[in-house]
Amino acid sequence: MKPNNLTRIIGKVDDLPTLPRTFLKITELVNSPKSSAQDLARVITDDQILTARLLKLVNSSFYGFPRRVSTVRGAIVLLGFDAIRNLLLTTSIFDLFSNMNRKGKFQREQLWDHSLGCAVGAKVIGGYLKYDKIEEIFVAGLLHDIGKIVEMLFLPKEFQKIAALIEAKDILMVTAEESVLGYTHAEVGKMLAERWNLPSKLVHIIAHHHGPPHAGKFIQEAAIVHLADILCRAVDIGSGGDRKMPSLCQTAWETLQLKVSDIEPIVGEMEAEFEDIGLFVNHSL
Ligand SMILES: [Fe+2]
Ligand SMILES: [Fe+2]
Repeated sequence: MKPNNLTRIIGKVDDLPTLPRTFLKITELVNSPKSSAQDLARVITDDQILTARLLKLVNSSFYGFPRRVSTVRGAIVLLGFDAIRNLLLTTSIFDLFSNMNRKGKFQREQLWDHSLGCAVGAKVIGGYLKYDKIEEIFVAGLLHDIGKIVEMLFLPKEFQKIAALIEAKDILMVTAEESVLGYTHAEVGKMLAERWNLPSKLVHIIAHHHGPPHAGKFIQEAAIVHLADILCRAVDIGSGGDRKMPSLCQTAWETLQLKVSDIEPIVGEMEAEFEDIGLFVNHSL
């Protein structure tokens, strides 16, 4: 069953959601040592919607800058190139969720909340660990279940079967996927991330968010997202498609070196930030 299904998705690879041209252009600029803040500002300001979104995000409580940032250049100088790329990736992903057809709207919104909650959780855990790439880990949280979106889009029948199986047997989504498809959303997500040429770190986190020890040198990042995913379920932020609580990977937990007593304040911060962020990452963007 596995080869057929995978071939089906791969066969449709040209139809897989694409990232906006501007995003690709920006990635190119960010990756080139020769480009300046001015070059990047020029590309962004060419796109009015992008400019408005960027300024809105930069002035949100996510960053908590004391003064208003009113120019794209100012935003770039304050946040740096990588953060800008990640912010723009965030808004592009949001479009992907909201542009899909009406069918399954509720499921999608629940999944969006779950993804956003996981992103916020990863950011909070990253803060506890003094992890230096906070935006990156936020984006990783946002993207971790992107494979589920691909399944909804390209394997709608199978996706319904998976949902029915979860409902009937109260099992984890990954278990239901294994039995219907022979693979999981983690593998599908990995494929999409590779197609988008995302950095290898993101590809690894998406591929191994259910099994961080397989993420090699990115085990810490995968463990952060793994824990954030579980905490989101524990406090009922959105829904990843099932109601069962996956068990926390012991090796991932040991990698993080957190104390059990850290969990309560982490969850508290997560819930508060989720409320805040929901106010600006919504359909008015
Ligand atoms: Fe997942
Ligand atoms: Fe998840």
